[in-house]
Amino acid sequence: MSKVHVFDHPLISHKLTNIRKETTQTKDFRETVNEIAGLMAYEITRDLKLQPVQIKTPVSESIQQELAQEVFIIPILRAGLGMVDGIHRLIPTAKIGHVGIYRDEETLEPKEYFAKFPQGLETAMNLVVDPMLATGGSAIAAIDMLKKRGAKTIKLVCLVGAPEGVNAVQLAHPDVDIYLANLDECLNEKGYIVPGLGDAGDRLFGTK
Ligand code: PRP
Ligand code: URA
Repeated sequence: MSKVHVFDHPLISHKLTNIRKETTQTKDFRETVNEIAGLMAYEITRDLKLQPVQIKTPVSESIQQELAQEVFIIPILRAGLGMVDGIHRLIPTAKIGHVGIYRDEETLEPKEYFAKFPQGLETAMNLVVDPMLATGGSAIAAIDMLKKRGAKTIKLVCLVGAPEGVNAVQLAHPDVDIYLANLDECLNEKGYIVPGLGDAGDRLFGTK
């Protein structure tokens, strides 16, 4: 069974509280989502593979370590885009794939509309990013799309998750670890996370 990592860090808790507030406007919301994603990425990439490299410092020759594994950031459109810059700032060499999925507002079923990935999914550490893990349908579909194309190491990174979505992803993809800034209480009758952040895509892009 996959592991669920819930971040327990005062900076993340404080920033998350700020974006939960309904008074927080688009600019602050977008900046803070990126900041939280960057803080999370530091810990999530702890098991990236390293390789030895010979270098010359101003003082001596030395064998040191450098990254031996690529990182791919895979935002689920639209709201996942809000986490990309924050992670990219930390890992500027990361490549970015895009998965277009939206939830049908009536059925809550995920609908795919776009997919474009970098070469090398098989060996990269693939970070599927989306601020919201609600029923889990979108995340499960995105991970399916990656696996179909050969991805092996996949981590799901969300800001806020509902227990329903966590359980669904664990059932569908027991090999995929889930990283959350917070595990929230439940889903409401409209499939929104409680207390949640509201509609993350709309709040990021000012569409409502
Ligand atoms: C939201 C969110 C997730 C999905 C989560 O996207 O960003 O992708 O819902 O819900 P689920 O776990 O029940 O699938 P939405 O469909 O609203 O699209 P958007 O990002 O384009 O606004
Ligand atoms: N999508 C969102 O943007 N917010 C929720 O609470 C659930 C799904």
